[in-house]
Amino acid sequence: MRFGYFDDKNREYVITTPKTPYPWINYLGSENFFALVSHRAGGYCFYRDARLRRLMRYRYNNVPTDMGGRYFYINDGGDVWNPSFAPTKAALDSFECRHGLGYTRITGERKGVRASLLMFVPPGHTAEVHELRIKNTTAGPKNLKVFSFIEWCLWNAYDDMTNYQRNFSTGEVEIERGGSTIYHKTEYRERRDHYAFYNVNAEVAGFDTDRETFFGLYNDWSAPDVALKGASSKSVASGWSPIASHGLDVDLAPGEEKTFVFTLGYVEVPRADKWEKPGIINKKPAHALIEKFSTTEQVAAAMKGLSDHWSRLLSNYSVESTDEKLNRMVNIWNPYQCMVTFNMSRSASYFETGIGRGMGFRDSNQDLLGFVHLVPERARERIIDIASTQFPDGSAYHQYQPLTKRGNNDVGSGFNDDPLWLIFGVAAYIRETGDYGILDEQVPFDNDPKTKTSLFEHLKRSFNYTLNNLGPHGLPLIGRADWNDCLNLNCFSETPDESFQTTGNRTGRTAESVFIAGMFVGVAPDYAFLAEKLGFTDEAKKARGESAKMNDTILKHGWDGEWFLRAYDFFGNKVGSKENKESQIFIEPQGFCVMAGVGVEGGQAKKALDSVKERLDTKYGIVLNNTPYSEYHVELGEISSYPPGYKENAGIFCHNNPWVIIAETMIGRGDRAFDYWKKIAPAYLEEQSEVHRLEPYVYAQMIAGKDAVRHGEAKNSWLTGTAAWNFVAISQYLLGVRPDFDGLRVHPCMGGEVGKFTVTRKCRGAEYRINVKNSGKGAAPKLTVDGKAITGDLVPYAKPGATVIVDCEV
Ligand code: BGC
Ligand code: NOJ
Repeated sequence: MRFGYFDDKNREYVITTPKTPYPWINYLGSENFFALVSHRAGGYCFYRDARLRRLMRYRYNNVPTDMGGRYFYINDGGDVWNPSFAPTKAALDSFECRHGLGYTRITGERKGVRASLLMFVPPGHTAEVHELRIKNTTAGPKNLKVFSFIEWCLWNAYDDMTNYQRNFSTGEVEIERGGSTIYHKTEYRERRDHYAFYNVNAEVAGFDTDRETFFGLYNDWSAPDVALKGASSKSVASGWSPIASHGLDVDLAPGEEKTFVFTLGYVEVPRADKWEKPGIINKKPAHALIEKFSTTEQVAAAMKGLSDHWSRLLSNYSVESTDEKLNRMVNIWNPYQCMVTFNMSRSASYFETGIGRGMGFRDSNQDLLGFVHLVPERARERIIDIASTQFPDGSAYHQYQPLTKRGNNDVGSGFNDDPLWLIFGVAAYIRETGDYGILDEQVPFDNDPKTKTSLFEHLKRSFNYTLNNLGPHGLPLIGRADWNDCLNLNCFSETPDESFQTTGNRTGRTAESVFIAGMFVGVAPDYAFLAEKLGFTDEAKKARGESAKMNDTILKHGWDGEWFLRAYDFFGNKVGSKENKESQIFIEPQGFCVMAGVGVEGGQAKKALDSVKERLDTKYGIVLNNTPYSEYHVELGEISSYPPGYKENAGIFCHNNPWVIIAETMIGRGDRAFDYWKKIAPAYLEEQSEVHRLEPYVYAQMIAGKDAVRHGEAKNSWLTGTAAWNFVAISQYLLGVRPDFDGLRVHPCMGGEVGKFTVTRKCRGAEYRINVKNSGKGAAPKLTVDGKAITGDLVPYAKPGATVIVDCEV
């Protein structure tokens, strides 16, 4: 069952009912000002940091779900409704929500009135613009009373939802232009040098800024007094909960349409200029921002700018094939999701509150794989930010704050895979750009300027961190956990409320990770290549030697007969082995070891992947482990805390399915790889939306596994490494076009379902048009470059400005 459709021409997903199984959302903004917006206009916006600079209040775990947003109440002769359906839930004659790239347009129609609300953040500005068009579609006149409504958050979203004893007394507003502009200035009198405003480009009949007055005592969102009465109360908030509502009289002749532009903005004022006069805020910066978006022409121009921006970004990789679902994932939605992960990391979604998690060291490096071709200069900056939080011994804080760019211990440190991800990120950046200069960039440890050294030195510490932390079998120690945050082998937690990620009740040097071993072997060739490039021949040689040694160690101590082992626990017992009672096999080492090439020659790779097929594959994707843990194991940690089939305990982690997909292409099995991909790629799941339940245009982190009560149901959409890894899998391995250090590698491995296709790739200033005739056999490709046959699969990089035609038969 579907709840909408893709409109590829306009790069939109069109939701046709307000009753999707969960709020289906979109993101606005791509620089400093961001917003989340659901198909019912719910959500909130913030400046840079979803916790510390939040403009709109949002309620979590609320009933009904998704309360708080930009709401427009229309009173049509006593009949009160919202074009976004919420909050009144008055039935609509038609409803449509178009989520596009950086904007959302919601249109609702009832009893001869059509209202259409466009929301976006204009590039370069710190505001949400709301353009509201209201049309009378009847043959008689309409006299409407229209009320805008937003509720202010008192800036710090965590404090806002907990500290009522203070917050109910601090709220302050100012009102200007008869109510057309409403200012939110809570705490401006003291240490804040910023305020927010909500403006409409029209004269108003009234306004409200006090929530209780607007709703009425004990009323809820669905029937606010003011909207029912059809008249604003001109309330001035003092403490409690400040809001902003404009009251508009909208008289429409038959067929007439009127348009209003609202600006919901954020400004900062230099401390010395804070006040216009005592107690009155300096409104100049607000006026300047309002001026920029006070006409529909300005709105149209800004929307055009936004659309051009996306066309530019998306033109860096595109595919034309006969499979429209494939096209829309690769050309539109997957890169779009990658950019959202770049902006948000794991902070603000409808599964992440925006008050908990900052930027992950591991997460950010992986996200980079998905956005580096879109915004290479920003990827460069991100790499420097991440590396600056690294510790001198190569280890890392698990996360850092976007506002301060400093590492913090909120989710601890000592995740022993973290350091190696930095090499992954840097290698991907250099492959894309050829900017080896970044390796000489001077970067501090733990943000201490006195410790500055070259970025290459950081990579060296990363690489050697693994070598300096090997366990009894010569495999890397796992530390608190590796990629699987929930495999906590030194945690031993028996106390509720203790964090699995920050608690370490045992310190031992026994628990080892086969996954990290695979990563090490996978990243070693890149590290050695970069070392060599800088003239560190000995280091390169050492890296190659250690990698060969680790490869052997994996085959000796990390091989279980039919698949790769997962780990050794604190006591030296095997995890993920046929000897175990439960969870005999895990996905991560199968994917990563094969990606690294371990066992490809000796046949273990094929065996491991066949075991994945046999034991982990389901109709909705590949589960993380099988069988699930049926009870809590203190020696394993959080993984065994989840009921079977959910999250890391045998859920389908869409993040590591692409590792297996890539691994399958490495042994030439494109058909199987493509099949796996289609099971989790959201566009292919659209028809099963009643089962999947989340947005069919973006990946979710997890789909409930075969042992779960609700097999097939997705959770945690948008902010997940799934976006980047699936983009890598489909674009670089299935379609097979990937930048390498010395050229563009063209090596499709898709299976036979998609025959001919063309990939257009811009890289290092040149454009490559790659026409693929795909037999699906997965053999070595035959390439011609501008008509001349070449040997191998590496197309040398052309000069900036060149257009290169590549023909590929495979
Ligand atoms: C989740 C993991 C997540 C971790 C972050 C756990 O509860 O299951 O997916 O990475 O929290 O701290
Ligand atoms: C989500 C985290 O953000 C990611 O870093 C981790 O690898 C996965 N969960 C698996 O635990």
